[in-house]
Amino acid sequence: MTEIEGARPEGDRAQYGVLVVDDEEAILESIEMTLGTEYRIFTATNGEAALEILDHESIALVISDQVMPGMTGVEFLERVVEKNPKAIRMMLTGYADMSSLIRAINDGRIYRYISKPWEPDALRVDVRRALDAYALAARNVELAADLEVANERLRAENLYLRREVEGRYSFSEIIGDSAAMQKVFDITHKVAETDATVLITGETGTGKDLIARALHYTGPRKEARFVAQNCAALPETLLESELFGHRRGAFTGAHADKKGLFELANGGTIFLDEIGETDPSMQVRLLRVLQDGEVRPLGSSETVQCSVRVVAATHREIRREVDEGRFREDLYYRMRVVEIRIPPLRERREDVPALAHHFLDKVSPRMGRKLTGFTNAAMDRLIAYEWPGNVRELENEIERISALAGHDDEAIGIEMLSEHIRGPGPGSAIGLSPPSAVPERDMNRAVDELKRDMIIESMRFSGSKTRAAERLGIPRQSLQKMIKRLEITQAELAPVEK
Ligand SMILES: Nc1ncnc2c1ncn2[C@@H]1O[C@H](COP(=O)(O)OP(=O)(O)OP(=O)(O)O)[C@@H](O)[C@H]1O
Ligand SMILES: [Mg+2]
Repeated sequence: MTEIEGARPEGDRAQYGVLVVDDEEAILESIEMTLGTEYRIFTATNGEAALEILDHESIALVISDQVMPGMTGVEFLERVVEKNPKAIRMMLTGYADMSSLIRAINDGRIYRYISKPWEPDALRVDVRRALDAYALAARNVELAADLEVANERLRAENLYLRREVEGRYSFSEIIGDSAAMQKVFDITHKVAETDATVLITGETGTGKDLIARALHYTGPRKEARFVAQNCAALPETLLESELFGHRRGAFTGAHADKKGLFELANGGTIFLDEIGETDPSMQVRLLRVLQDGEVRPLGSSETVQCSVRVVAATHREIRREVDEGRFREDLYYRMRVVEIRIPPLRERREDVPALAHHFLDKVSPRMGRKLTGFTNAAMDRLIAYEWPGNVRELENEIERISALAGHDDEAIGIEMLSEHIRGPGPGSAIGLSPPSAVPERDMNRAVDELKRDMIIESMRFSGSKTRAAERLGIPRQSLQKMIKRLEITQAELAPVEK
């Protein structure tokens, strides 16, 4: 572990080696007497001998005389720089050979000079300061090394995360064998390669987000950023500053310049979610950006060029919004260079089993459950249900079931489904349901549920409408009408496998 600067105990200084070089033994002795109790002192009477010591000892501070036989002090200290660049160097000087001294100081070869004779206390202070500087430098080196390691780790983590993200948003994680979804994947694949502006439409929870990310992460811009902004989440001026940035002082509270998302996404993709919720003036601004490929931050007179791929999404019937004057037609056409329409889940019920299994596989181990599948009856219900919240609702339902399931449950049965999805089970409207539940219900609904149940049961039992109508004691045509009115699906009517 590294210690905190300043917390180094005084006694630790004894670890520091101080090398003193002077041709006068008396001077060496005197310095040893001044500093010897605090530090490990090494002495030499000439440069050559001192260099030898430097080879074998760990020296933090070198104090050298300037005028010596053989190597001069400045020459010696130059060699010290080569051998041990970290050691702090100080010069002793008896008379003022100022020009060489100043040169040495300016060249950074010496930390400071001490003039002879010196005050012992002053020398102690100088040495202590020099060693503090040494400790600080050593600590900086350590910190820099730590920082390098941390950066390296961050780079590795980023790479890992990027791979993860790419994996998560690749097509392999988007489920959909239905012809309708295969068409969606096809278009997505094709336009991912291009810079075309894409408008993704579809009801809530159909996977618009997922497709937007797949467009980015499978395309050539994947190394740059994907930034998403929900246009419904912010009031207009905030949204403007978020998307286009602002200059300091552009409005109250704009304390500093801020880059907008268009600028941040340069080279990458910006995802404008809920584009249908934008105000007319925002629509004008967006149109300009799309036309000119440049943005002007709030409060700035200059524009910023940016190469950004725009993907937008809306859960609204955008064509109707245009017809009714709530969405600018010109922006609509700019936006929908390519339109990807994701069909609601009820229009591709064949995707339900794979999606349900996909979510179960994801969530069940995470919650420590053994759940691996569904009973036929439960799956029938999942397929038959309308899913107004689409895939998100299905995902939530599977999560809810997993959370509530017993630790040993292996299959999801019909009784584990939410009541509104399960629908009225056989006999549930009469007899089996606790009487206390009955008054809570709307009577017409309860009667409808009962009818629904009886129809499904007798259809499954008899396999044909004529025979089912007979069993129920009603005309075949009435049965037909009721099936339609109650929106009973073919899947619900099909005989159950036992
Ligand atoms: N085809 C799919 N395969 C796997 N998971 C899906 C699929 N479609 C949607 N999901 C999942 O369903 C959830 C909802 O999807 P998403 O957020 O993309 O919907 P959305 O269309 O953006 O909805 P909203 O309009 O409400 O923003 C997400 O958790 C997503 O991972
Ligand atoms: Mg979304």
